[in-house]
Amino acid sequence: MAFADSEPLDIGALRDSRRGARIGSDIRYFDTLPSTNTTARELAAAGASEGVVVIAEAQTQGRGRLGRSWVSPPYRNLYMSIVLRPPIAPTQAPLIALVAGLASAEAIRTYGIDASIKWPNDVLVASRKVAGLLTEMDSDGENLDAVVLGIGVNVNLALDELPEELRDKAGSVAIALDHAVPRHELAARLLAAFERRYDSFVRVGFAAVRDDWNELSCLTGRQVEIADGPRRLAGEVVALAADGTLELRAADGEQLWVVAGEVTIVGGYERG
Ligand code: BTN
Repeated sequence: MAFADSEPLDIGALRDSRRGARIGSDIRYFDTLPSTNTTARELAAAGASEGVVVIAEAQTQGRGRLGRSWVSPPYRNLYMSIVLRPPIAPTQAPLIALVAGLASAEAIRTYGIDASIKWPNDVLVASRKVAGLLTEMDSDGENLDAVVLGIGVNVNLALDELPEELRDKAGSVAIALDHAVPRHELAARLLAAFERRYDSFVRVGFAAVRDDWNELSCLTGRQVEIADGPRRLAGEVVALAADGTLELRAADGEQLWVVAGEVTIVGGYERG
């Protein structure tokens, strides 16, 4: 059964909440786009300044990490992309997705939900993926021109509105609460949380957010298996390192630092 009517989000209220902010004082709002990341990248290439946000009610070609698609039905969820121009090296751009993962989990937690972060880019509630982050950048290899941060949050989606193959893996804020929440309100909370965390990241570095990230990680202290292409690693997660790699302790005591990969928690996702 649906949690919400098919109504546009209250873009006026969202714009009011971001007046004067660095992130989201300029919001470009669309009914349907192929992908908000594509539009934000086009805007960035045309000179859009840091903090411009693109929001669509639906995406026809929403994309996720590793070439996957992102299910983007209309009037249920948040599909947002933010143009960023951080003074960092291109190699550091993936850290922005970690910063945004923390901010997204914090925004969802304002509803009293125990949201956690699953490295690298997922936000989970009760073992189900509720949000995902995707950074894409334009750089000449040495200099970063712009990073586009894409944020997808399943907000008011009911379980039976999810494709069948995702019903045991994906969730939504409304499924966790058993009622709908105003999408503009969650978007406002998320943009505010992201601006705060992003500012510290740019001013101080990733170390400024790392402890809080580790605090909300569902992986810390857990036994995991990580697939990175053909490489398979296993061990206990120690913590996220200052460079955004995940530190593991293998059964033989060897320390490993993992740069990328798909994580499976041995024995389930709940935080202990
Ligand atoms: C993932 O978990 O794989 C990342 C999902 C990112 C989805 C968002 S929705 C808004 C933005 N536009 C896209 O096409 N993708 C991101």
